[in-house]
Amino acid sequence: MWSALLRTTVLSAVLIPIAYAQISPPDFPPLPVPITSGYTQTDLDQLWQSVEQNGIPVVKANITRVLEPLANFSVGPEPPRFRPAYLQANTSGLRLPEGFLYGVSTAATQVEGAVKEGGRGPSSWDWICHNVPSTCSGETPDVTVNEYYQYKQDIQRVKAMGVNTFSFSIAWPRILPFGSKGSPVSEKGLKFYDDFIDELVKNGIEPVATLFHWDTPINLMSQGGFLNRSIVEDFNNYASIVFQRYGKKVKTWITFNEPLVYCAIYATFPFDATQKGGVNATLSPFICAPNLIEAHATAVQTYRGLVSQGKIAKGKISIKHDGQKPLPFDPDSESDREVADRVADFYLGLFSQPIHVDGNYPQSIEDSFPPSVLRRFTDEEKDIIKGSADFYAIDAYAVTVAKTAPGGLEACISDVNNVYWPVCQDTNPVTQHSRVNGWPIGATADPANTGLSDTTQHMREFLKWLSEKYPSPGGIYITEFGFTEPFEVLLPELYQITWDERRANYLLDYLNEALLAINEDKIDLRGMFIWTPFDNFEWRSATQQKYGLQHVNFSAPGLDRTYKISFFQVRDFFREHLLK
Ligand code: NOJ
Repeated sequence: MWSALLRTTVLSAVLIPIAYAQISPPDFPPLPVPITSGYTQTDLDQLWQSVEQNGIPVVKANITRVLEPLANFSVGPEPPRFRPAYLQANTSGLRLPEGFLYGVSTAATQVEGAVKEGGRGPSSWDWICHNVPSTCSGETPDVTVNEYYQYKQDIQRVKAMGVNTFSFSIAWPRILPFGSKGSPVSEKGLKFYDDFIDELVKNGIEPVATLFHWDTPINLMSQGGFLNRSIVEDFNNYASIVFQRYGKKVKTWITFNEPLVYCAIYATFPFDATQKGGVNATLSPFICAPNLIEAHATAVQTYRGLVSQGKIAKGKISIKHDGQKPLPFDPDSESDREVADRVADFYLGLFSQPIHVDGNYPQSIEDSFPPSVLRRFTDEEKDIIKGSADFYAIDAYAVTVAKTAPGGLEACISDVNNVYWPVCQDTNPVTQHSRVNGWPIGATADPANTGLSDTTQHMREFLKWLSEKYPSPGGIYITEFGFTEPFEVLLPELYQITWDERRANYLLDYLNEALLAINEDKIDLRGMFIWTPFDNFEWRSATQQKYGLQHVNFSAPGLDRTYKISFFQVRDFFREHLLK
């Protein structure tokens, strides 16, 4: 029934590029028995035993002490210029607005490693990658780039780009090993982020902290995760601890990263099998969505309360949306134009409309799901939800193309058994990345990343649409954008890898379009964050897909980092256009 939505959602998501395979219960071991009281060290050990029950132990990095910044650090020789100057001529006099945030973005699971250190509890990703290795291309987040120990040198390396901000996420199970409200709080976990934030601040880099970037504590996953409404309270407890600890130094907060993609995992990861009462893979994303929205809004209420009580500094808070407004496959087809609106509703509107507009889901979604499936908010809840974001944040990598599902729009919308229902978009990846005239929408990213093309020429249009559809007094922030260089994983030599021309072109074209959007279209765009400063653990693709501005040698004991050409290109763009 709703599999069409889930399939499209997942396939078009930039971040989890490999299509999910449904993993049936016999293929994976049981989730750990939930721990709801006591919370002893033995309980924690049991959770880790559940992670390792398949005989794949958690490993440590070679470097297990914090490396200090290098005394004689340099970026090395400047690369040759590869972009002809005329390409930048029409933006050369333009400037970014005062206070513009220029930064990079990371997420705890993807960079930290040290998963068992400091009393951290296991997350859903530790559990899946160890127990169902195919889920993570046979790799684990145990070490990844070892940010936990190498962050000082990494901040030093990123500072050389001239960034004024850095977006990172806090791992919930590092703070609360069991996740839940009664869980002990890990002082070592809290201390790690204190040190990390202090290092950023010391280097003149503004920290932007995300509370949740998909790493659900496994102990909560065993209790249904975001399919169980009780997680709202657990999340609020976690958020409150974090706000109080860092709320004097962190002034920009994000509650959730990419809620759409996150909720879609409930349709495809094994966890839905633990659900009771007939909740199945088809229904689960729509049970997740209201719980996540409520968790977001409740945490924002807590944040604002702490600010008004003077307990923490006044800052701003939002949620990082995902999704986009696609182009119609055939611009002359009314039906394709309509389906493009429908995709925007289902992908972006599901979370944006309640939070940024009126507490309701878009009409097309409400018409599709009865309240018994998609919980409607009460008036009281709506009052908390609407306006629960101080700015509009979006991970806007690219747009796609929407084509009407075979059989036509009306027939599809009225038939819940149609495989394309309820979005009614043709889910063929080819029609999502090319147009009626046969041309692609843009240069393809790595072929394993079927959801991403370079569509930078359409981003101005998208930003215009966005600022009209979800106007925000706090402006728009592009909290992630980036590109997987095609075939990078296959390149044998470093000198080949470092010439990442498609990524550099994507980034520069995008940045130039953004300059025009700000200066000519008067879009209130206030910040942009590049995904990502170094190659890291790209979820299901693990280290097989590269988004980094720096190469990481995952076979070297020190996980050596090397700048790619895109790093310098971006640095030079901001040198020219950022107001000093
Ligand atoms: C968005 C996600 O937030 C991030 O975790 C992911 O790695 C990138 N997109 C690239 O896929």
